Amino acid sequence: MNVLVTGAKGMLGQDLCSVLDDCGHDVIECGRREFDVTDFAAASKFIENEKPELIVHCAAYTNVDMAEEDPINEKVNSIGTENIAKICAKNDIILVYISTDYVFDGTKNTPYLPDDKTNPINAYGLSKLHGEQAVQKYCKNFYIARTSWLYGHHGKNFVETMISLAQKPELKVVDDQIGCPTWTVELANGIADLIEEDAPYGVYHICGSGKTSWFGFAKEIFKQCGLKVNVVPCTTDEFPRPAKRPAYSVMDNQNRCRDWKTALKDYIELRVD
Ligand SMILES: NC(=O)c1ccc[n+]([C@@H]2O[C@H](COP(=O)([O-])OP(=O)(O)OC[C@H]3O[C@@H](n4cnc5c(N)ncnc54)[C@H](OP(=O)(O)O)[C@@H]3O)[C@@H](O)[C@H]2O)c1
Repeated sequence: MNVLVTGAKGMLGQDLCSVLDDCGHDVIECGRREFDVTDFAAASKFIENEKPELIVHCAAYTNVDMAEEDPINEKVNSIGTENIAKICAKNDIILVYISTDYVFDGTKNTPYLPDDKTNPINAYGLSKLHGEQAVQKYCKNFYIARTSWLYGHHGKNFVETMISLAQKPELKVVDDQIGCPTWTVELANGIADLIEEDAPYGVYHICGSGKTSWFGFAKEIFKQCGLKVNVVPCTTDEFPRPAKRPAYSVMDNQNRCRDWKTALKDYIELRVD
């Protein structure tokens, strides 16, 4: 299948393009050089010329803290996604939109299901929800794939940050936010499976199985790397950030990904210092 990927130079985009290529798809990789997703005319021209059968829309404003004050967040995640959705609808292209656990408010204490009520508590989550709403408004043939706590070999992420801080005598890490760490390759495989299976259109959760806190995640990273680090649990209040985070954003993934610790092991084995 002819598949176009936006955000192809990003952390997920790079692994996704490799996975789709390995599955035998013809992949059209789009970064900013090809078009800016907020420019409807440029995006239309490029996409209508390439004629993909499916678009995976990964491009996004992803700095959760800066998003609180930066109007570009809404422009890229909401208007940019609306542009892609309109182009897909007009040209009969299947759309896969990558969304986030941050569309939820984190007040549940059992895993979120795809149909659970959304109620974002930060600007990034709200802009991504606006993206979901645009997809649902304009497209019939769509997948919304919500994911969470991403790490991968091609971008800044929590695993690499922790490893870079391993020399510290003590490391305080937040223990009252619970979620599902997800390796980008795991998510890319989950997206490829949706396409391969011809799964019914709709909303899916594609994230690591199981759950942990950032503290638990950090401890497991150091354990698997064989690093002795004094990791100390702390509360969100002790580590204030501009954007609020949901306290509990565990999602029910219907076994679409492996256990998060198993995936982490593969990630660590493949990483190059
Ligand atoms: N990271 C996470 O923990 C996480 C969690 C849940 C969901 N997600 C979602 O997963 C997807 C991939 O995330 P990621 O972590 O791989 O993000 P990323 O590494 O920041 O990649 C995003 C890509 O989008 C591009 N982009 C931004 N604005 C653009 C624009 N106006 N036009 C064209 N391209 C633009 C960026 O290009 P530049 O580098 O040039 O800006 C970048 O290559 C996103 O949709 C994100 O919302 C991420």
